[in-house]
Amino acid sequence: MADYDLDVLVIGAGPGGYVAAIRAAQNGLKTACVDSRATLGGTCLNVGCIPSKAMLHASELFEQAQSGALARLGVKIDGMGLDLGAMHGQRQDTVRQLTEGVAFLFRKNKVEWLRGFASFVDRDRVRIGDRIIRARNIVVATGASVAPLADAAVDHEVIVDSSSALELRTVPDRLVVVGGGVIGLELGSVWRRLGAEVTVVEFLDQILPGMDGDIRKEANRILGKQGMSFKLSTKVTGIEREGDGAVLTLEPSAGGAAETLAADVVLIAIGRRPNTEGLGLDQAGLSVNARGQIEVDRDFRTAVPGIWAIGDVVPGPMLAHKAQDEGIAVADTIAGRAASLNRDVIPSVVYTSPEIAGVGLTEEQARALGEIKVGTFPMLANSRAKTNHEPDGLVKVVADSGSDRVLGVWMIASVAGTMIAQAAQAMEFGATSEDIAYTCHAHPTHAEALKEAAMAVRGRPVHI
Ligand code: FAD
Ligand code: NAI
Repeated sequence: MADYDLDVLVIGAGPGGYVAAIRAAQNGLKTACVDSRATLGGTCLNVGCIPSKAMLHASELFEQAQSGALARLGVKIDGMGLDLGAMHGQRQDTVRQLTEGVAFLFRKNKVEWLRGFASFVDRDRVRIGDRIIRARNIVVATGASVAPLADAAVDHEVIVDSSSALELRTVPDRLVVVGGGVIGLELGSVWRRLGAEVTVVEFLDQILPGMDGDIRKEANRILGKQGMSFKLSTKVTGIEREGDGAVLTLEPSAGGAAETLAADVVLIAIGRRPNTEGLGLDQAGLSVNARGQIEVDRDFRTAVPGIWAIGDVVPGPMLAHKAQDEGIAVADTIAGRAASLNRDVIPSVVYTSPEIAGVGLTEEQARALGEIKVGTFPMLANSRAKTNHEPDGLVKVVADSGSDRVLGVWMIASVAGTMIAQAAQAMEFGATSEDIAYTCHAHPTHAEALKEAAMAVRGRPVHI
């Protein structure tokens, strides 16, 4: 160790950073993790994955009770109502328990938790407050923050971002969501279920960019049926505060006549951008690419030896599980152990109801690369979905025509987020569609729809 204070200093305690720190300590390296937040867990645990899922779960139950869906199952609830304070309370409680859980794991694994904002002094020294720490390895895991919409300053009351949209104290009558991506659809769903009239304004001609074309179309149809309105191929050119609300000016993306749209609350959800401001990357000899990301090689080495980067601050999907797996890989690489991460098999899930999930290539991407076969199966024909009154959705398997190897799996189903793990594991093992088709699946389960879609690749599904 000689002149070094630490073997590893991790900057940022989100899913990338805290996992990297724990694994580095497990590998016997003297490790500390610094974060400027009061609690550990980064975006995901504090203002992202976890609180949004807490509100999605609670609001889904509310809607099931309020819409009469439970009554139709024979579950009669008299005098039901919304206690938004209690709903927020359970969200905050879950966040508290999970962030404290990370603090417990730090203590258990002897990771030192440093509180403060970190900036590079040079390639192996970092300033945190009035302290300077020298580390043999520095892992940058500073994550990302909400991308601003030009000329629309977030005030956290009427014009909100994903963090303040989780905290609304009353249900807005009219919520306009700018951006039909993952955040817009998840948080839009929360407030629609609780009673808001929700309009999503999306620049592109379809929601959920990056996902399979059929899945995007079907998701749009299902969410529309639930009562969400969509203004596609539309851009927001201005947002003005007016009275207690706001008025948005909209124009067709391709140009044309402007219209206005009134809202009580406007949620800006047009993407996220990497956190590197104030980090002093230039002091360390580092720079960012055109998208503001830190470029890394396959092992997460930056251009400067001894400095590594993972998670939302590097290129790739901005997902917590991707950040976590990169955290493990970088800590094992630093310790000289074998590490691997298959960038082709990173599942993504949108936690609407039903859930929307995918892994691997979309049909469009796969078709552009060569001959493919596609099998689909509707959830309407799945016995468990039928039993649970969940008719919406489908499963699609995309396989290589010659080898039959599965290239991608896409699905909309109530439990798609859980089902997609099977597809990811099959793809990780290089499965063919036949491998999935001949795997015995328990009955009655939603997962049988994946088996049927795999059978459909050869045109031989049984239950349709
Ligand atoms: P982060 O979690 O952003 O953590 C970085 C940390 O570093 C932060 O705490 C930050 O304060 C700190 N930091 C930054 N700069 C410094 C500095 N200079 N010094 C000290 N500390 C610093 N992903 C999913 O996979 N599933 C989901 O369901 C999901 N839901 C989401 C819902 C919302 C509303 C949002 C906003 C995001 C969601 N995401 C989800 C994305 C997910 O949160 C991110 O991909 C993930 O948190 C990235 O992890 P990270 O470790 O790279 O960075
Ligand atoms: P996103 O990239 O998913 O979607 C942003 C959308 O806004 C796009 O459809 C884009 O075309 C549109 N857009 C951009 N500028 C616009 C404009 N001026 N007017 C109208 N539309 C515009 O970004 P989002 O939803 O903000 O999420 C950020 C990241 O957080 C995502 O990369 C996602 O991976 C992650 N996340 C993941 C979740 C999950 O895994 N379940 C949940 C929430 C966030």
